[in-house]
Amino acid sequence: MSSYDVIIIGSGPGGYVCAIRCAQLGLKVACVEGRETLGGTCLNVGCIPSKALLHASHQLHEAEHNFAKMGLKGKAPSVDWKQMLSYKDDVISGNTSGIEFLFKKNKIDWIKGWASIPEAGKVKVGDEVHEAKNIVIASGSEVATLPGVEIDEKTIVSSTGALELGKVPNKLVVIGAGVIGLELGSVYKRLGAEVKVIEFLDTITPGMDAEVSKSFQKLLKKQGLEFQLGAAVQGVDVKNNKAKVTYKLRKDDSEHTEDADVVLVATGRKPYTDGLGLEALGIAMEKRGQIKTDAHWATSVKGIYAIGDAITGPMLAHKAEDEGMAVAEVLAGQKGHVNYNVIPGVIYTHPEVASVGATEEQLKEAGRNYKVGKFSFMGNGRAKANFAADGFVKILADKDTDRILGAHIIGPMAGDLIHEICVAMEFGAAAEDLARTCHAHPTYSEAVREAALACGDGAIHS
Ligand code: NAI
Repeated sequence: MSSYDVIIIGSGPGGYVCAIRCAQLGLKVACVEGRETLGGTCLNVGCIPSKALLHASHQLHEAEHNFAKMGLKGKAPSVDWKQMLSYKDDVISGNTSGIEFLFKKNKIDWIKGWASIPEAGKVKVGDEVHEAKNIVIASGSEVATLPGVEIDEKTIVSSTGALELGKVPNKLVVIGAGVIGLELGSVYKRLGAEVKVIEFLDTITPGMDAEVSKSFQKLLKKQGLEFQLGAAVQGVDVKNNKAKVTYKLRKDDSEHTEDADVVLVATGRKPYTDGLGLEALGIAMEKRGQIKTDAHWATSVKGIYAIGDAITGPMLAHKAEDEGMAVAEVLAGQKGHVNYNVIPGVIYTHPEVASVGATEEQLKEAGRNYKVGKFSFMGNGRAKANFAADGFVKILADKDTDRILGAHIIGPMAGDLIHEICVAMEFGAAAEDLARTCHAHPTYSEAVREAALACGDGAIHS
């Protein structure tokens, strides 16, 4: 029996980052992972492979739509789907083997197999029981299925199956206009599929600042994605590898159908805690299946902690990573902390959409006295040169103190641009602080400064 200071269950962004930080802080660490490779959903079947396909399909879009305008003539490339998938697989293995290297470098033991916790202080993998002073559960999440919709990962797929379809479908129906549905829907649209998104709510991307969400939907429509909003999917029938999606319109209860070659179920994810033995341990759970934790990620059983998608909060890799680092610091006797008010969210479509802090709707609801500074990428020279002038930066600041309360960007590199606002918010900055910071010209980030200027005496280029 081997014994450790910490055993982490799960090697996704929460678990592997926690393991590395624990090792850096001098703790003896092991990480249990049952997949063939490290990195969890994110690296194997989530964030990273989807970004590879988004990148490749965006290059095709550029070749088809913008190359000739720049004097780059010739036939647009055709899609070699097999090669695109193999590029995606290379990206995955480059990243997962990178984590394996980091584990070796930091002397972290990878215990291969699926873990259960027979009692506090013990982790069972296969027939072996390992001892640990502390256990961190970072077991992540799995696809939340819909009643009447049976995922076979061929005709009815989750995000996992959507990353390795046999071919680009002629028609893809996406259930759910959230992050996964829109990212993967964009990929297949650009690769030539007809894409229809069926969404329960009356808007896409629930929880997003409404102005951004509206503008995002318009841009996606311009790219050819079709939307059926306000529609509850009732079920999907598959016959001879063809699917028929049945949905009801919420406004009048009328029933409709939509044929598809492939149906992507993107209606959310739920915590994955199967097989851990949490019930027998008596670990307290939240109503929606997440593990209950206190402000320091401790569960109701002493010596057992939980982070990431398995607990409450946004199901985002970087939120899990921050919790992983913070809980490692707690276990090493330091004071780990996560600022949940400053966690950015990004959708990696083109244009990208990124946000941090409060939406305008949340500020209204809270009765806050706020002001809005907005700047369109149409006024940004770099964006115009790069055919990327769709979208805007919107900064929300307190009307009295000028402190930044939230920011929402739709436009080129929004997922990178958002971070200067995150840093500003971490430092409690006012919009004027951003506005008075020199930004290099010509960069997309000038649009952020201009939006900050618009919170004060006005943007220059609008
Ligand atoms: P989501 O929660 O973002 O969106 C699900 C959508 O499905 C919602 O709009 C919901 O109203 C709709 N829906 C639910 N039931 C329905 C029904 N019966 N008929 C029609 N529509 C229905 O979930 P999604 O996109 O599956 O993503 C899961 C998680 O993964 C999210 O927490 C997301 O943040 C995370 N993720 C993050 C990414 C990123 O940060 N770029 C990328 C991919 C996933």
